Amino acid sequence: MKIAIIGQGYVGYALAIAASKAGHSIIGFDTNPKVISEIRGYGNLSNYQPTNSESDIKNQDSYIIAVPTPLDEKNLPDLSFLVNAVQLIARSSLKGALVINESTSFPGTLREIVITEIEKINKAKFLYAAAPERIDPANTKWSIKNTPRVIAGIDDQSSKAAYEFYKSICDEVILVSSPEVAESAKLFENTFRQVNIALVNELAQISSKLGISATEVITAAATKPFGFMKFNPGLGVGGHCIPIDPIYLAQKAEALGAPAKFIRQANLVNQQMPLYVLQRLKELLNDSLQNMKICIVGLSYKADVSDLRQSPSLVLFKELQNSGANVVFHDEIVKDFNDIKSTPLTPDSFDLTLVAVHHSNLAVDKVVASAPIVFDCTGSITGAHQL
Ligand SMILES: NC(=O)c1ccc[n+]([C@@H]2O[C@H](COP(=O)([O-])OP(=O)(O)OC[C@H]3O[C@@H](n4cnc5c(N)ncnc54)[C@H](O)[C@@H]3O)[C@@H](O)[C@H]2O)c1
Repeated sequence: MKIAIIGQGYVGYALAIAASKAGHSIIGFDTNPKVISEIRGYGNLSNYQPTNSESDIKNQDSYIIAVPTPLDEKNLPDLSFLVNAVQLIARSSLKGALVINESTSFPGTLREIVITEIEKINKAKFLYAAAPERIDPANTKWSIKNTPRVIAGIDDQSSKAAYEFYKSICDEVILVSSPEVAESAKLFENTFRQVNIALVNELAQISSKLGISATEVITAAATKPFGFMKFNPGLGVGGHCIPIDPIYLAQKAEALGAPAKFIRQANLVNQQMPLYVLQRLKELLNDSLQNMKICIVGLSYKADVSDLRQSPSLVLFKELQNSGANVVFHDEIVKDFNDIKSTPLTPDSFDLTLVAVHHSNLAVDKVVASAPIVFDCTGSITGAHQL
């Protein structure tokens, strides 16, 4: 198939590589020239063409959307990137094509946004499907290929065409009865994580008051061979799935008059974690953070990635600064942030070292030697103060 993938970020580029390896002829379009010039530097396959020129994506067999779906300043779904991408597709295809949305969004997006916007501009016959991406950055076990893909077309012909494409890149494709089911499944998966993370974050606060280790409680509970799934507490949630996708579901639910109390509450608990940790650090430092030299280890939102989006480490960084602390960070993957460079971990350099994220290559012995107090949000440093 001749396919244009709209958006060559994390999702769109990974898809472009998978689809070109499967033999499709791929044009990867992105509005950001920097993204395209970086990709051109990688040395790509001959059937993959990265571009930021609209004229390159005319009349393809299929268009797959992989653009950002963030929240706006009012914390509401921002579909402006998606709408722009859809309008671009409508302008580019004269004869109609298979249009697939992989971007995460609320149930109804394919029908209410994608189809509506295309039909405003282009009267050709298009096929439409939703195939939300499930990729997990830095996960070495689960990739596009072996992660089952949930898809649904707007009609039988669309479902069949989308199924055939995904069968060419994924081992297992699950066809559900409507795009709304596929869109909801994606949001529910991430909401499930958000709620369970919030629950263990609350358990961490309860355990601290009880004077016991939350990690030990969770490890003990996880010995139950049925009816329990292990989640770990942490400094909060980051990236652009767990803090954002549940809001898309909550917003749609509330617009329909359905409850979303659990989702809203979980979001709040996770958002407040950096403030809870700030309080714990204050207690460890005799109630004042003024002029305390504090090192945050791990600035990204999760282990082994450099992505800083919505990272709770950044929230804590700012809160510590506002409390008068002298804050530095150590992160060998992020290396620098806002012109601040990662600080090496040398012995006895800080009053307190806080481990927010544990990258695989972290030198734990250096963390332990770096300060008299080590506070560990990851449950992985023996002898440290725990969440
Ligand atoms: N990153 C993940 O782990 C992940 C996992 C599953 C789903 N998703 C979802 O996939 C979608 C894309 O996420 P991402 O991580 O790839 O985002 P990203 O920010 O890494 O990439 C998006 C790209 O789209 C480009 N873009 C924006 N508007 C455009 C337009 N109108 N036309 C062409 N290009 C445009 C941007 O320049 C950017 O390079 C989002 O809906 C996200 O929620 C992401």
